Amino acid sequence: MSKLSAQPLSLAKTDTIALYIHIPWCIKKCPYCDFNSHAIKQPVQPLSTHLDPELESAYIKRLLSDLKNEVRELETPRRLSSIFIGGGTPSLLSETAIKRLFTGINQFLPLQADTECTVEANPGSSDINCFKAFREAGVNRLSLGIQSFSDAALKKLGRVHNKAAAYRAFEAARAAEFENINLDLMHGLPGQTIEAAMSDLDQAIALNSEHLSWYQLTIEPNTLFYTHRPDLPAEQTLWNIYRTGLEYLQKAGFKRYEISAFKRPGKACRHNLNYWNFGDYIGIGAGAHGKISFQTPQPGIHRTLKTRVPNDYLNTPKRIVNLIQEEDLLLEYLMNALRLVEGFTLSSFSESTGLSQNQLQPFLNSSKSRGLIQFDQNHVKPTPLGLRYLDDLLLMI
Ligand SMILES: C[S@@+](CC[C@H](N)C(=O)[O-])C[C@H]1O[C@@H](n2cnc3c(N)ncnc32)[C@H](O)[C@@H]1O
Ligand code: SF4
Repeated sequence: MSKLSAQPLSLAKTDTIALYIHIPWCIKKCPYCDFNSHAIKQPVQPLSTHLDPELESAYIKRLLSDLKNEVRELETPRRLSSIFIGGGTPSLLSETAIKRLFTGINQFLPLQADTECTVEANPGSSDINCFKAFREAGVNRLSLGIQSFSDAALKKLGRVHNKAAAYRAFEAARAAEFENINLDLMHGLPGQTIEAAMSDLDQAIALNSEHLSWYQLTIEPNTLFYTHRPDLPAEQTLWNIYRTGLEYLQKAGFKRYEISAFKRPGKACRHNLNYWNFGDYIGIGAGAHGKISFQTPQPGIHRTLKTRVPNDYLNTPKRIVNLIQEEDLLLEYLMNALRLVEGFTLSSFSESTGLSQNQLQPFLNSSKSRGLIQFDQNHVKPTPLGLRYLDDLLLMI
C-alpha cells in the first residue's frame, strides 16, 4: 500500500466532462450478462421491441431531472466532450423519447460540434427509423452488440438476434449514415473452436467497421451461466484463440489500444478513453456511476452512484456520493490506466490523482521484476503479459 501524504491532493483543473446515460431494459435477459439490465414485460410472442410508452416517458423525465441536478452540482461550467448511451438496450427507445432526451441534454449540457456521441444497439431491436432518429439528434457513433456470426453460438448465448439480423442492423446503420461504427464480439464461447472464433473475426473484419471490441466471455456471479455453467473451451484453446485473434486483427489493420478495444486510425472511442485516463464523467440513469473531481474546499474526487432498480430510480431516486480516499486512489487509477496498451505518463498520473510519483514506485518495482510492466522516467506501460493478466497485476498494489 502507498504511504499517505500529509498535504492536500493537488489535482489538475479540468474544463471538460463526459456523460454516461443508462437505459436499463432489454427485450430479454442474456444468461451471461451481469449488467444492470432487466427484461421488459413480454405479454405474448412475438417479442416486443418497444418500451411501454408511459414507462419510457417517465424514465426520460427522470433522466433529465437527474442531469439537471448533476450539472448544478458542478463547481464550474464544463464542456461536454462525449456522451455514451448504454445499457441495457438503448435502441429500444422510441423516436419521440430520443428527441425529448436530446432536447433536454442540449438545455442542461449542450452538445458541441466535436462531442463524440455513442449509442449501444442490439441487432434484435435495430430499425432504420430508430437509427435515423439517433443520427438526427446528434449521435455520431453506433455500437452494435453482434457477439458472434454463428446462429448456433448466438442461440447458446440466449441472444434475441441471429446472423441475418446482425447484417441487417449493420446495413441499417450505414443507411442511416453512421460513419463510425463499433462491433462488439465475444470469444471463448461455449464449445467454440479456434476456427469458429477466427471465422467470427473474419466476418466482422469484412464488414469494415471503424472499431471492434473483442471480449473474452467471463462467467459472472448472479447470472444464469454461473448456476448453469456452459462447457467453455479448454484453457489452451482460450489462449490460442486470444493469441491468434490478436494477430488476425493486427493484420487486418486494427490497432489494439486497450485490452479488448481495436481501432482504425483516428477511431478510438473517446468516451472510454476518458474512463481509462481517469477523466471526469457524469452518470445518469438507474445504477449509473459518475466521477467528478473538485477543487474546493480542498481538492478531491467524488464517486456518485444512482439507485439501481429501475422502478426505485423512477419513484424514490437517490444520489449516493463517496469521496475517494487517498489510500484507494492508486488502485482506482491503475485499474483503469493499465488497461491501455500505451499505459500512462507519470505526469498524467500525478495530475489526475494528486498523488506523488514516489507513491507509485514500490508497485512499479515489484511488477517490473515479474515482467508485467515496463517503465522509464516519464512513462509506464503494461507488457503483453501484464495486459493478459491485469487482475494479477493489480493484486500487487
Ligand atoms: C453492456 S453490453 C450492452 C450491449 C447490448 N445490450 C447488447 O448486448 O447487444 C456491452 C457488451 O459487453 C459484452 N459483454 C456483456 N457481458 C459479457 C460477459 N459476461 N463476458 C464478456 N463480455 C460481455 C458484450 O459484447 C456486450 O455487447
Ligand atoms: S442485451 Fe446486452 S445488456 Fe441486455 S441482457 Fe443481453 S448482454 Fe445484457
